[in-house]
Amino acid sequence: MARYKEIGLEQFAVGVIGARYVGLATGACLARIGHWVTCVDKDPDLIAELRNGGMPFFEPGLEELVARGKSEGRLSFEDGEALAGVVEDSDAVFIAVGTPQGDDGAPDLSNVAAVARGIGRALAGGRGRENPLVVVNKSTVPVGSGDYVTTLVREGAGDAEVDFRVVSNPEFLREGSAVHDTLFPNRIVVGFDHPEVGEFMRRLYGPIIERSFAQRDEPRGVVPFVATDLASAEMIKYAANAFLAVKISFINEISNLCEITGADVKSVATGIGLDERIGSRFLEAGVGWGGSCFPKDVNALRATARKNGYEPTLLDAAVTTNDHQRELAVTKLERNLHTLEGKRVTLLGLAFKPGTDDLRESPSLWIARVLHARGARVVGYDPVVAAARLSSPDLEVAADPYGALSGAHAAVVVTEWEEVVSLDLRRAAALMSAPRLLVDGRNALDPAAVRASGLTYEGFGHG
Ligand code: UGA
Repeated sequence: MARYKEIGLEQFAVGVIGARYVGLATGACLARIGHWVTCVDKDPDLIAELRNGGMPFFEPGLEELVARGKSEGRLSFEDGEALAGVVEDSDAVFIAVGTPQGDDGAPDLSNVAAVARGIGRALAGGRGRENPLVVVNKSTVPVGSGDYVTTLVREGAGDAEVDFRVVSNPEFLREGSAVHDTLFPNRIVVGFDHPEVGEFMRRLYGPIIERSFAQRDEPRGVVPFVATDLASAEMIKYAANAFLAVKISFINEISNLCEITGADVKSVATGIGLDERIGSRFLEAGVGWGGSCFPKDVNALRATARKNGYEPTLLDAAVTTNDHQRELAVTKLERNLHTLEGKRVTLLGLAFKPGTDDLRESPSLWIARVLHARGARVVGYDPVVAAARLSSPDLEVAADPYGALSGAHAAVVVTEWEEVVSLDLRRAAALMSAPRLLVDGRNALDPAAVRASGLTYEGFGHG
């Protein structure tokens, strides 16, 4: 049972398979707390970029953390060829590869399957450690996949006797604050079916649980460690994202009722959010949720429900409300511009939220597509998504917000970047053409200030 206690080290050798978003943040943070981490990815160009000090995506603070790990010799990068060596030398191997949404809404597990089989093949070649390899699944996989990973590792190992344990360790980091969320999480969730691996995970995350490395101005106190079974850990991941998505859709529905009744959704959100049972966060009404997580995970949970003969009516409704919010942005434009044909509309913010350059399921791209299809000329501006990255027939990308606003009949705040929220509104009004409409899709601006600058203001859920 207590086999890991024999290791006697608080610094472990860890392999992280998949060096994109979750893998890189996990690897860099594990190195930060003292472990020896090798990140492996099958994409040799990505590995070359990381070795050369490049960063494949925009994430505040991650580049510095990766550089620190490399300079301390705790963080290294290898391509897929190195997998066998990493399995041989590691105490734990994290699976942190993508599970994109398949055509039926269910996640495509082919990347997880390929890595699990690869680990099995490597295990069959033998390991330099006595303890069973801990295979930590960080990829978001449907409930029940822990068993699936075990089956695939065995399959990869063929006839060889292999010793490993699968753990589910879901990821709760947010894009834009990945480093902080990983080093200072609200909780660590670990699902397992052998108690000794639960203990191993507690020790692996020891510095994060104890916050022993925290600086003076950083959070203190012990981080709750939720030890549970594999299926529950996997469900916690989906339930957390689905709850937050439902919460946003809930406030958006209330927001629409506020518009009808003359109430103000911001006051309503403040008033309900102060009830500790409700909580004030994720009650911001507007164009709704996007990104690589909420849409995919809510759809995956709906697919799991339907596959098992259960109708997930609440989750379905959350998606319907969310789709409606994007349409509402277009409705507000049409109502004020009368027709979109020939009109110039500026989208302020293209990434699905501030602090990231991720365009996946971004409300901006959906709105651009609809506006373009209805005859509008769409110009987008984003502080980090450059024209070079986004070639779309639906919109042009301007490098500067005022260039984007020049001659526009209307503008929509889709992403509440600081650069967008702090725009010089008088300058914007002077550059725009009548009716100089500003649709505030994130309720991020002060309506009185917008109106005082000569623009027509339309928010969500208030006058
Ligand atoms: C989300 C979760 O918040 C993380 O805990 C989770 O780990 C992650 O998914 C994941 O599964 O990997 P993320 O997608 O990075 O993180 O972004 P959020 O900050 O949660 O925002 C999601 C969307 O909801 C954004 O489009 C945002 O604009 C929107 N949102 C958020 C609202 O419309 N209203 C709000 O009040 C809050």
